Parts: sequence; C-alpha cells; structure tokens
Amino acid sequence: MKLMIINGPNLNLLGIREPDHYGRETYADLIAKIERHAESIGVEVICLQSNHEGDLVDFIQSAYGTCDGIVINPGAYTHTSIAILDAAKSVSLPLVEVHISKVEEREDFRQISYIRLAALKTITGHGTDGYPEAMDFLCAHIKGGA
Ligand code: DQA
Repeated sequence: MKLMIINGPNLNLLGIREPDHYGRETYADLIAKIERHAESIGVEVICLQSNHEGDLVDFIQSAYGTCDGIVINPGAYTHTSIAILDAAKSVSLPLVEVHISKVEEREDFRQISYIRLAALKTITGHGTDGYPEAMDFLCAHIKGGA
C-alpha cells in the first residue's frame, strides 16, 4: 500500500511559523514522524510540499494509478481552492484532510473547507499527530474495502 502525504503553503515553515497554533516541530520533524509511522505499519509513503496551488493539483493528479490514498493539509488553500477540490474529486482516491491547528476555533474565514467535500474524514487540532492518525484511518479503510 502506498500513501501520498501532501502539505500546502507555509507548512515548510513549521517550527518557525506561529508556534502557538502549529507547535515547535519542524517540517523535517513532521516528515520523520510520518516515515517512522509508515515503516511501523508497513506502508510506503511519498511526502510532498508546495507553496503553489497548481503544484498541489499536479501532486493529486500524480497519485492516480500510483497511490492508494491521500493525506492532505492544503494550508490556506483549504479555504479557497476549488481547483484542489476538483483534482481530488477527479482522481477519486480515499482522502483524509488534516489540520494541525483547531481550525473550527479560529477565524470565520477558516470555517470554509472546499477539500472537505472530497474527504472521508477531517482531523483538526491534534498537532502533527493528526498525520499518523490519518494514515491509520486510510489503511483501515483501504484494507476494509479490499
Ligand atoms: C492549517 C490551517 C489553515 O487555516 C492555515 O492556513 C494553514 C495551516 C493547519 O494545519 O492548521 O496554513 O491547515
């Protein structure tokens, strides 16, 4: 089984950006956590990050036929991007939306999520532990459907 883990804009600055919301772990720490977890549950992962909306669309498209599921934190594009939603709907892969912060307790403009319309599940406010949780959920879902 292979999962694609996609992170959107500014998530490369984890550890530096707004630690009250996003904690002190760096992006490298996050990737190490994901890779350790992948090994422990016996799945392959490909981790990708971009600050550019079109790249995120390209990543999702490239998962078609190569990955079994997607974990995505689209960052601020969560709240604006129909293109990313359309890409997710186009490939029709099982997808979990992750947010490090508790978005539902933040500003009004963060209360809209386009990607949620293509997500099996949304995890918010669990810090970077939300990623391994999303991987576990996808694994169970994919195995259950096999
Ligand atoms: C975020 C929440 C978004 O509102 C924000 O724009 C981000 C990070 C999160 O992980 O909590 O960049 O997706």
